[in-house]
Amino acid sequence: MIFDVVVVGSGIAGSVAAYYLAKNGFSVAIMSKAPILEESNTLYAQGGIVYKGRKDSGDLIYRDIMQAGGGISLPDAVKWLAENGQNAVEETLIQEFGVRFSKSRRGGYDLTEEAAHSAKRILHSFDSTGKMIEDKAAAAIRKCENITLLTNYTAVDIITLDHHSTDKYRMYQPLTSLGIYALSNKDKKVEKILSKIVVLATGGMGQIYLHTTNPLLATGDGYAMASRAGARLVNMEYTQFHPTTLYYPKANNFLISEAVRGEGAVIVDKNGRAFMEKYHPQRDLAPRDIVTRAILNEMLESGEKSVYLDIAGIGENKIRSRFPNIYKKCLEFGLNITEYPVPIVPAFHFSCGGILTNLYGRTNINRLFAAGEVACTGLHGANRLASTSLLEGLVFGRQIADFITEHREHYLNLEFPEVLDWIDTGNEDMIDPALINQDWNLLKNMMWNYVGAVRNKKRLRRAIIDLNNLKEDVENFYRDAKVNKSILELRNAVQTGLIVARQALANRESIGAHYRTD
Ligand code: SIN
Repeated sequence: MIFDVVVVGSGIAGSVAAYYLAKNGFSVAIMSKAPILEESNTLYAQGGIVYKGRKDSGDLIYRDIMQAGGGISLPDAVKWLAENGQNAVEETLIQEFGVRFSKSRRGGYDLTEEAAHSAKRILHSFDSTGKMIEDKAAAAIRKCENITLLTNYTAVDIITLDHHSTDKYRMYQPLTSLGIYALSNKDKKVEKILSKIVVLATGGMGQIYLHTTNPLLATGDGYAMASRAGARLVNMEYTQFHPTTLYYPKANNFLISEAVRGEGAVIVDKNGRAFMEKYHPQRDLAPRDIVTRAILNEMLESGEKSVYLDIAGIGENKIRSRFPNIYKKCLEFGLNITEYPVPIVPAFHFSCGGILTNLYGRTNINRLFAAGEVACTGLHGANRLASTSLLEGLVFGRQIADFITEHREHYLNLEFPEVLDWIDTGNEDMIDPALINQDWNLLKNMMWNYVGAVRNKKRLRRAIIDLNNLKEDVENFYRDAKVNKSILELRNAVQTGLIVARQALANRESIGAHYRTD
């Protein structure tokens, strides 16, 4: 297979990049390891997307993002988003994709509030904003003639000139991407897919943690692949934990959107006492890291396994109309949020760092771009402001398409060197699900206990030693076994965990989502 562009990942960032590139005449493949295009981190986003409030301004949005980022957000990236976000929402989401956001009774958009925003400026589609966006984006992609859908393909590695070509002078050339080796999950064969440009939009890494709001496919694939290819990864220690996820057997840390607190829900202890005022003047709408640590502290002091979220005070009608998905999901577990507080705990939610890109999504590897959660434009700094992630994927996904289009000649003018086919010498019998499960358990527990919301040198050093051992075991396993999706995911997850732990140890300063007791 040969394309102008392969986009790996079909969430908002990948979909927007693929859509505009195809519209501008490039042959594009969009790849997802899931059987359907829609399955992505984006699909599960509840809260919303930053737009513009009444009496709001780009300057105010800029200030809030900078403030949340702990002072290390990159001003140019924040400025770009603050100035172009509203237009991108209107042009791409509303006009091109036909996304419908919730409206108020008066007919205008129903703007909501979330933590650390100084205005009500968030557009939402009830409490399933991501699903609305993802469904519409996937429908738009399916209509594009020059987009090939490669669903059920798991990316194995970025094909690079120096690693995979037979050019005898390859080591003297700049790092260059030439495509993707990808496993067809159905045929169980690794295929060589050449492309003049690769866009990584693989989403996050939540599954490396014991508790996460992320779906099962968030196994850190893009970070690990990019790192193996020689990309620069930064700010990986800034792992954001969401304070309010359902603590209930089989609920898998179902997210209870921050918008619920934006509408008046209050975090309480088991006696129904609100405690956030002890920790921050903004109480329940303090920045996420502060709310998370406050909850963990209360749990430690009380010895309880959770705290509670009192949503009932919002009123039954409002709950059912504004948060139908959360209401229904909790009811499936026998929890009626209109009547009594529900148990909640923090869980990993979002990686603020990633593959370093400039404002056009370019990485330090030629012909390799990145966007969305896997990328680090510098926008989030040390901590992400709520409801900026969908906007980031949208704005910077579009930036990539515009940049490549503007430099069309340069990018299309490439003679592919000879690239080696994938040789799979592995043995199917080596695959033992018991080993894979146990390695996942080890990884998730290590990351949660040693590289979690509260860190110190001792824990991080221990994590690195244990993760190095695990990495070696998994690497041997990967080499001996026939390649399959579960081994690829495990390998990527362990490598990503190690990158996070190393960067967390190297950074001795507590800022935002990276908090050290020492
Ligand atoms: C939420 O709905 O609480 C998540 C919003 C976000 O992470 O931006």
